[in-house]
Amino acid sequence: METEEKVQKRIIITGGAGFIGSHVVRLFVNKYPEYEIYNMDKLTYAGNLANLKDIEERPNYHFVKADICDFDFVLKFIQEKNIDGIIHLAAESHVDRSIKDPFTFAQTNVMGTLSLLQAAKLYWESLPEKYDGKRFYHISTDEVYGALEMSHPQGIKPPFSTQASSDQHLAYGDTFFTEDLKYQPHSPYSASKASSDHFVRAFHDTYGMPTIVTNCSNNYGPYQFPEKLIPLFINNIRNRKPLPVYGKGENVRDWLYVEDHARAIDIIFHKGKIAETYNIGGFNEWKNIDIIKCVIHTVDKMLGRNEDEDMNLITYVTDRLGHDARYAIDSRKLQSELGWEPSLQFEEGIEKTVRWYLDNEEWLENVTSGDYQSYYERMYSQR
Ligand code: NAD
Ligand code: DAU
Repeated sequence: METEEKVQKRIIITGGAGFIGSHVVRLFVNKYPEYEIYNMDKLTYAGNLANLKDIEERPNYHFVKADICDFDFVLKFIQEKNIDGIIHLAAESHVDRSIKDPFTFAQTNVMGTLSLLQAAKLYWESLPEKYDGKRFYHISTDEVYGALEMSHPQGIKPPFSTQASSDQHLAYGDTFFTEDLKYQPHSPYSASKASSDHFVRAFHDTYGMPTIVTNCSNNYGPYQFPEKLIPLFINNIRNRKPLPVYGKGENVRDWLYVEDHARAIDIIFHKGKIAETYNIGGFNEWKNIDIIKCVIHTVDKMLGRNEDEDMNLITYVTDRLGHDARYAIDSRKLQSELGWEPSLQFEEGIEKTVRWYLDNEEWLENVTSGDYQSYYERMYSQR
């Protein structure tokens, strides 16, 4: 689908050194050479500029090391660069960390979002054209809707599917996250994201800011920090370390390949309706334990180990506090209104993902040892 007439835009992508952000930055830098793309990132433990090595020298790419909570800096930057679009991904994103340290989540996810909103508002309202041609696009999560019932623990044939749905695909309940569902976040992470979503909508409703919010399901793919289930487990299987399965491993997540999320963000940024919410997901529910077995199988096969020899690494551990039972996105609105579809079957996406981590051992080693944090010093501090 053609998504853009060739007009110049100056866009801030926040959190572009993180997992999803790096895929979004790469897509925009490559696809829109006429845009200026500013990757604004604080480089927390989750930010890694090595994720963008392949595009860092491109003339339309600019890295800006900044904390989105630094309102004065953000305002000055938006004014100086005459920014007309913000795609906001920067966040604290790991549920387990939010359970240990909720304050950081409120600070970054709520106050950081508010700082960006207020800075964009002050600048855009000062312009003769005001909000014309401007866009504030906030990337959020399906976790704001809370947890769905597991009314079919054995799985049923799903009521919806996509071209990319595989034959093995099952649904584990009759209800799905739709855009009009009431927010019921449970973890400090999802509560902070819910709060930020409310602020974004409040800026539309109060000031007329052209905002869009999307809520996406679990992403997987290259460059994900190995604290999240799939990369953590690939790395542990590789090193023959235990695989900590929370509870009984029966919780269900709805998985989407990260490049499909980035494609959806591109389409929605350019074609989405102002003030709308779009849910993004691939109709791809899996129980954690089934994913884990699939990952073990794939890693063992690719490493030439005996089939499934690492199944004994599975170690059931104490459950996550407040662990949401099931997430399942209904993304039919996005499919029917904007023509987006996931492109990959899950089995294909997992193969690609495992292959990437095994082929990028150096990246994994650097991330797990902490060495990646000096990449910024080497790349940018002597410039
Ligand atoms: P991530 O943790 O991999 O990356 C977050 C990035 O934000 C990092 O580069 C980090 O340095 C940066 N950052 C954090 N605090 C900052 C601050 N104060 N100022 C500037 N930069 C800061 O996250 P991710 O998994 O790529 O998620 C990106 C966004 O997508 C988040 O908003 C998350 O809530 C949302 N989301 C994630 C998923 C998923 O499965 N990972 C699914 C749906 C939605
Ligand atoms: O649904 C979207 C969300 O998906 C995003 O908003 C979050 O940023 C992202 O981190 C992800 O949240 P989850 O908590 O679902 O992802 P995580 O990879 O941490 O866990 C996936 C499932 O696996 C979850 O049910 C918990 C379980 N798990 C996780 C880890 C890290 C384990 O059983 N063992 C583990 O070691």
